Amino acid sequence: MSDQVLKVVVRKREEQGDGVVVLDLADPLGQPLPAFEAGAHVDVHLKPGLVRQYSLCGDPAQPLAYRLGVLKDPASRGGSLAVHELLLEGREIEISAPRNHFPLAPDARRSILIGGGIGITPMVAMAYALNARDSDFELHYCARSRSRSAFLEELGNAAFAPRLHTHFDDEADAQKLDLAKVLGSPQAGVHVYVCGPAGFMDWVIAQAIAQGYADDHVHREYFQIDVDASGAGFEVHAARSGKTVQVAEGQSIVEALGAVGIKVEISCEQGVCGTCLCDVLEGEPDHRDVYLTDEEKQANDQILVCCSRAKSKKLVLDI
Ligand code: FES
Repeated sequence: MSDQVLKVVVRKREEQGDGVVVLDLADPLGQPLPAFEAGAHVDVHLKPGLVRQYSLCGDPAQPLAYRLGVLKDPASRGGSLAVHELLLEGREIEISAPRNHFPLAPDARRSILIGGGIGITPMVAMAYALNARDSDFELHYCARSRSRSAFLEELGNAAFAPRLHTHFDDEADAQKLDLAKVLGSPQAGVHVYVCGPAGFMDWVIAQAIAQGYADDHVHREYFQIDVDASGAGFEVHAARSGKTVQVAEGQSIVEALGAVGIKVEISCEQGVCGTCLCDVLEGEPDHRDVYLTDEEKQANDQILVCCSRAKSKKLVLDI
């Protein structure tokens, strides 16, 4: 993971749809930014202690700006509200170099991209990339209503517009997403990509698996989850410092460690970004994140300490 920090300026800001701000971030001197792949995100340093991840939704072939689309979320814990309030045109901010936890499969014969609401953002970059490599794909954009949706004009004018299928909750049934039909029976080399609200993603993933898709052909990017913090307390031993703490019911491992002076770098605090990943030396984690794959979770040798807990009475962490 690169720790490179980039200083960028908000070159352009545009309100689109209902509550979405689309930002173009550029080098202050107009130099090209580091290249990014479709599916990548950047960490945006909004203010001290507030770092949030946003997918890059521009064309990866255009390195002069990184485009973000951020929905103002009334349930925001500060991130999206800060974007809307602070990131005005001309504002300089720091971001990380792009990181990609949601890459396109290089060997895909066909790709089915499904974005729900603001989950369309990584799909836009994917559509540009697939179109540039002349790869077969279709893009499905599901949203509550046409008037509330961002990116419609851009997508409608894009070279890949004929591959775009929109599905609005408040329009005729005939245009609604027939997920079973879109997925069809799995064919060799067909990959599915989904991003959106957790319930929407769970629906798409469950349907794809039910129709026979292999788990590793159903690619997913969660941007918001409800962290389940319930469960009994347990003990954590931090091997490097030699300190042991009790993690109370409802308390996170990060909070418990922080109380004895052990600071863990965190960002999303929702098990999404991977910033707080630690190695597990002993004990069995109770994984509550959406960052690790099922296989990684089964290995039980890593844990995201912002949200996950323990099945065993004690965890020993390499921290
Ligand atoms: S801080 Fe993002 S996964 Fe823990």
